[in-house]
Amino acid sequence: MKAVISNYAGGPDSLTVEERPTPEPQAGEVLLSVRACGVNYPDVLIIRDLYQIKPERPFIPGTEVSGVVEKVGSGVLNLNVGDRVIGFSTHGGMAQQIALSADSCVLIPNEMPFDEAAVFTTTFGTSYHALKNRADLRLGETLLVLGAAGGTGIAAVEIGKALGAKVIGAVSTEKKASFVLSCGADECFVYPANLLSPDGKRDMANQCKEACGPRGADVIYDPVGGDYSEAALRAMSYGGRHLIVGFPGGVPRIPMNLPLLKSCQIVGVYYDSFTKREPGLNRTNTNELFDLYRSGAISPKISARYDINSVSEAFRSIEAREAIGKIAVVFD
Ligand SMILES: NC(=O)c1ccc[n+]([C@@H]2O[C@H](COP(=O)([O-])OP(=O)(O)OC[C@H]3O[C@@H](n4cnc5c(N)ncnc54)[C@H](OP(=O)(O)O)[C@@H]3O)[C@@H](O)[C@H]2O)c1
Repeated sequence: MKAVISNYAGGPDSLTVEERPTPEPQAGEVLLSVRACGVNYPDVLIIRDLYQIKPERPFIPGTEVSGVVEKVGSGVLNLNVGDRVIGFSTHGGMAQQIALSADSCVLIPNEMPFDEAAVFTTTFGTSYHALKNRADLRLGETLLVLGAAGGTGIAAVEIGKALGAKVIGAVSTEKKASFVLSCGADECFVYPANLLSPDGKRDMANQCKEACGPRGADVIYDPVGGDYSEAALRAMSYGGRHLIVGFPGGVPRIPMNLPLLKSCQIVGVYYDSFTKREPGLNRTNTNELFDLYRSGAISPKISARYDINSVSEAFRSIEAREAIGKIAVVFD
């Protein structure tokens, strides 16, 4: 089979496409013929050895796949050859085949194509868990979404609308703002691409306050971090919830007087841990997300599809902060 290989720690150019033997599914595993693999922000960190998970080299990147079950290992009772599934692994997804745990696999709704299935769960699963379980977002509340044109951000915009919130997006370019508005946000403003000076932070805080109005944001969805977090927190309402999702802008340092003054909560979101600790609730969430998908309220926004020979380009667009919505690697 053809596979993308990381032979040494490095950027997108360090990846090569090589022939590898087809893996044999072990007990509890299935072999998938991979149809698509989502490209997620951690993928760009993992090949540089900057992520908490460090697979032994050489390894195949890619954690989130869709495909068809080709072989079933011993002891697997929940899946059959021919099933269309979404599956997860710590790595191995950017290859024509992957052997992975049958327990990580979920059947794909009939109406969902493989490319959408491969980018569905991490973004919508994270944002739904964040907004529903962690923030308890309520009808009529104001939701401010940072990095709103990114993978998790745009999922939060759509879910926020589906849950009846007023949704305000915040992004770094006009092009991203147009995209966010086209996906249903009530408003979207453009913040500077970096906030190097104290003035920059203050201006960004003022933008957030102006967009959210005198009451402020009831919920802030924050997959960006860096100095953006504090600027957004300054526009929080009394009793609001600030969801900490990710740090492509760096890990923020928040003055602890702010949550006191706002009587607000800073709430951690860790989807991977949630899926392992609360599998029942995660199944309920996934089924509810599939219902929202069938109703048309949410849909993965794939802006670019790459084949296996151009995977480096996919990684580069995420690293360069250019990706809009989701990108996927697709296989014939
Ligand atoms: N906590 C969890 O359970 C969980 C789950 C999934 C993902 N995550 C994390 O959440 C973060 C966002 O994931 P995502 O899938 O939404 O990523 P994404 O599609 O790449 O979007 C991230 C957004 O962050 C902004 N950004 C600011 N500084 C950036 C920089 N230096 N490089 C790249 N982007 C930058 C960009 O928006 P602007 O240009 O508009 O600022 C970009 O659109 C990642 O750190 C990811 O690891 C966490």
